[in-house]
Amino acid sequence: MHRFYITTPIYYVNDKPHIGHLYTNVIADTIARFKRLDGFKVFFSTGTDEHGQKVAIAAKNKNLHSQDFVNTMSQYFRNFNHDFYITSDTFVRTSEATHKDYVRGLWLSLLKGNHVYQGKYSGWYSFKDESFFQESEVINKKAISTGNSVKWIEEDCFFFKLSQWQQPLLEYYKSHPFFIRPLNRKNEVVSFVKSGLKDLCITRLSSRWGIRVPGNTGHVFYVWFEALLSYLSALDKKVDFWPVDIHVVGKDILRFHAIYWPAILMSLGLKLPKTIISHGWLLQNGKKISKSSGKTIDPYAFTNICSTDYYRFYLIRQVPLDRDIHFSVLDLKLRVNSELVNKLGNLLHRVCSLIFFHCNGFIPCPGSFQYEDTLILSKAYSLVVVVREAVNTQDLRKALDVLIKLVIDANIYIVDNKPWDHHILRRSTVLYSLSEVLRIVFILLQPFIPELAAQALDYLGIQDRSFSFIDKKFAITPGKKVMKPRIIFKKIL
Ligand code: MSP
Repeated sequence: MHRFYITTPIYYVNDKPHIGHLYTNVIADTIARFKRLDGFKVFFSTGTDEHGQKVAIAAKNKNLHSQDFVNTMSQYFRNFNHDFYITSDTFVRTSEATHKDYVRGLWLSLLKGNHVYQGKYSGWYSFKDESFFQESEVINKKAISTGNSVKWIEEDCFFFKLSQWQQPLLEYYKSHPFFIRPLNRKNEVVSFVKSGLKDLCITRLSSRWGIRVPGNTGHVFYVWFEALLSYLSALDKKVDFWPVDIHVVGKDILRFHAIYWPAILMSLGLKLPKTIISHGWLLQNGKKISKSSGKTIDPYAFTNICSTDYYRFYLIRQVPLDRDIHFSVLDLKLRVNSELVNKLGNLLHRVCSLIFFHCNGFIPCPGSFQYEDTLILSKAYSLVVVVREAVNTQDLRKALDVLIKLVIDANIYIVDNKPWDHHILRRSTVLYSLSEVLRIVFILLQPFIPELAAQALDYLGIQDRSFSFIDKKFAITPGKKVMKPRIIFKKIL
């Protein structure tokens, strides 16, 4: 069985999860579910990033000890995964002993390999971004890319020899054209690396809340350095899953993943990730929805009007990976009502009602197939390859696009072929063909809208839902019972 390792970033616990985190999680979860159904042995990791000054300040503001604070906050993220059906296989916490031991062990390997040295750092640092910035990236004491304030710091630290990896990184980007997706973001990374890489300060003296560097140095590891290593500690002993197949990250943290991380891995002599997907931001009033700016949208706020699957559908269908979009409840309603409810829900309900009333609730036995039946069936069968290809190239939007197009065609087919008007044989063929189309559609939709797809497949009496079954043609069995019609896809009012 092929292995597949996918990750989300580990989330800062300075505040509760928001809709932006849900977006990252949903992308990763959809791909993880798809690969599982497609026969891969998947390892999907997520977790919380619990050290650093940003988190320490948040704990102090609440008058709590940092460890107590992160214990509570991390639990919000764990619950969040559960509540939104995120199927991660592990949840890393960077304040846990396993992770700390890994980090110290990997540090010793870097030390041994002569990849780090002691020196003095002086430069700009942003607490909100937990990031160092070069002179050219700062204007009026603000980081140009994030708008967050920066502070001049001078302190002793250990440097990682990042500069020595400039050429190997450029070569790697060249020989692995799909290492970073989408392409526009890859170009930004390449030009940043070409402009010259400086060695990276990977320990902090002024910060106390972190993993202590071995050897009584008084240093703790720079939060990003240890956070990246969580992708290794997450695996614990399941080393067979290495290298990572897909890292899903927002565009704001691409540099850490596409530059620092591969350089650290090269120093450790480990294989590099195959692909990094970098998505855009969800915006509100033109600004990134973020904890630090106070502009968050609580994903739980709309759970009374819409289900988790509706969110999932909206986030994947509406948001192009290479752009930022404004998060709007109105858009969510329009998208869900027009496509999921009116097109897909309507088709399902119509077909099942007709089977229920005209065929006593049993999938009918088809007569001879006419041109239009074969056409809609072949469109459905050919979709399997197209959807798989779209997901394998991380174009989840395209996968939904072709699925919805098929649903539109099936709605036209039902109107053109009027199974309610016809002789029993013709009616049976049309309803059989439509059940087969629905089988393909809902099996393929499982990773995207898992709860609703499961209900629809139950409704149609389809048991075998893996993709190995989907490749079979005419697989829906005549004589199977469908359930009494009821509305699964409810309109958002
Ligand atoms: N802790 C680091 C990641 C370390 S990974 C080794 C971090 N955490 S974060 O909580 O600030 O962000 C985690 C993810 O959420 C990032 O991928 C980020 O892009 C994403 N998002 C946070 N706000 C977002 C939006 N408003 N819109 C879309 N995604 C957003 O960075």
